[in-house]
Amino acid sequence: MMLDKEFVISEIDPRIYGSFIEQLGRAVYGGIYEPTHPTADENGFRQDVMNLVKQLEVPIIRYPGGNMVSAYNWEDGIGPKENRPRRLELAWSAIETNQVGTNEFIDWSKAVGAEAMMAVNLGTRGIDAARNLLEYCNHPGGTYWSELRREHGYEQPHKIKTWCLGNEMDGPWQIGQKTAHEYGRLAAETGKVMKLADPTIELVSCGSSGSGMPTFPEWEATTLEHTYEFVDYISLHQYYGNRDNDTANYLANTLDMDNFIKTVIATCDYIKAKKRSKKTINLSFDEWNVWFHSNDQDNELEPWSIAPPQLEDVYTFEDAILVGSMINTLLKHSDRIKIACMAQLVNVIAPIMTETGGGIWKQTIFYPYYYTSVYGRGTALNSIVKSPKYDSKDYTDVPYLDSSVVYNEEHEELVIFAVNRHLENTLKVDIDILSFGGLEIVEHVVLENDNVKATNTLHQQQVKPHSEGQSFIEDQKLIGILPKMSWNMIRLRKSN
Ligand code: AHR
Repeated sequence: MMLDKEFVISEIDPRIYGSFIEQLGRAVYGGIYEPTHPTADENGFRQDVMNLVKQLEVPIIRYPGGNMVSAYNWEDGIGPKENRPRRLELAWSAIETNQVGTNEFIDWSKAVGAEAMMAVNLGTRGIDAARNLLEYCNHPGGTYWSELRREHGYEQPHKIKTWCLGNEMDGPWQIGQKTAHEYGRLAAETGKVMKLADPTIELVSCGSSGSGMPTFPEWEATTLEHTYEFVDYISLHQYYGNRDNDTANYLANTLDMDNFIKTVIATCDYIKAKKRSKKTINLSFDEWNVWFHSNDQDNELEPWSIAPPQLEDVYTFEDAILVGSMINTLLKHSDRIKIACMAQLVNVIAPIMTETGGGIWKQTIFYPYYYTSVYGRGTALNSIVKSPKYDSKDYTDVPYLDSSVVYNEEHEELVIFAVNRHLENTLKVDIDILSFGGLEIVEHVVLENDNVKATNTLHQQQVKPHSEGQSFIEDQKLIGILPKMSWNMIRLRKSN
């Protein structure tokens, strides 16, 4: 691996380490909010959950959905809690009590140090509901909706900067699914009106629900033809699963993710050229993760209960390795990906799990997310990598070494995040670090396990990192020793 301080990809937008809370399953009720829990604060928020979210240093959190937003009446979630209606939540066949709504979410996100990324309903609703919600949230006062917010106890506007124009509107499962032309027109007009109400906001147009959608990437091209002038980002969503139990193939899925990102960038730039525009549309990868473990058990759940245990994937060691690789892929595209949200944050396909009324624990995927979010701030660097490769069922030329590199000028730290995809062999990586002057290793954190299916529970953390990585510096080269199938963080600092 060759590295140079000058091989700059981009300054990393911290929002690349974002996440997502949907009013779904036990993400909110029994997750972030549980007034009867022993750790609940005066607003009913679980402080044990807040502490772990704070550890992750999540900069931005998308809310309230997800599929849920496409039939959501935001007005149900404001005002005195005792007056809020219970509704059939049709996206996930549950009952929504609306005890948590916009204001509570803003309170919670502030308490965990994150900004909110708000989605508007473009499934059952449209321009009017969106502009009213924006006025309620962002207008200082003196108008119907802003005064109502103040009556509800929020004197100051929430100043929500980032807004999603609907969710996955190409999906047949989506309430109010639209064709690309229908969505493009509605999103453009909604965006136009929202920016009239508050020109400081940024808007995310819905991209495809995944790289496998039959309408991808035509959806991106057609919708952007309509929305280009009004939006700032286009969204990407992607989940992977190891349904065939083929680990080598599963770990290669970031080649698909990389191709997905490149195709969306190319499509954005094609429309830019077509429109002779000076403006560049960036990417918001606002749903990404592993999601497949809970699919069967979710089909067994009885409909119409409150906060059912939906999408409660129990993650394995191999999932954590793929998640580490997915973050590497995001960082390698940080010149265009400015926002990304691990979907989701608590209980629902999440790094943090809770028992309702009980304890809390870190899933396997918590660890790569935690280390990259905390130590992966600064400038993303390109590296020139020569790695042995393998072929798998769906991919050819898969490099065993997958990595991303971050230079933090302020702390004079160089951080290498590296995955060894080899299932049996250690990888010894020669890393040229000459251009950084004298560096010393601060720590080499390793996530490894002999059992690819090892999981974590409330009582047992089978998968957790250690700091006994064996890397060393020799002749001004870093020799990275990456154990078989492992995720690694090698952190270096200027030596005295
Ligand atoms: O994150 C779970 C679901 O996945 C979201 O509600 C939806 O947007 C996507 O299909």
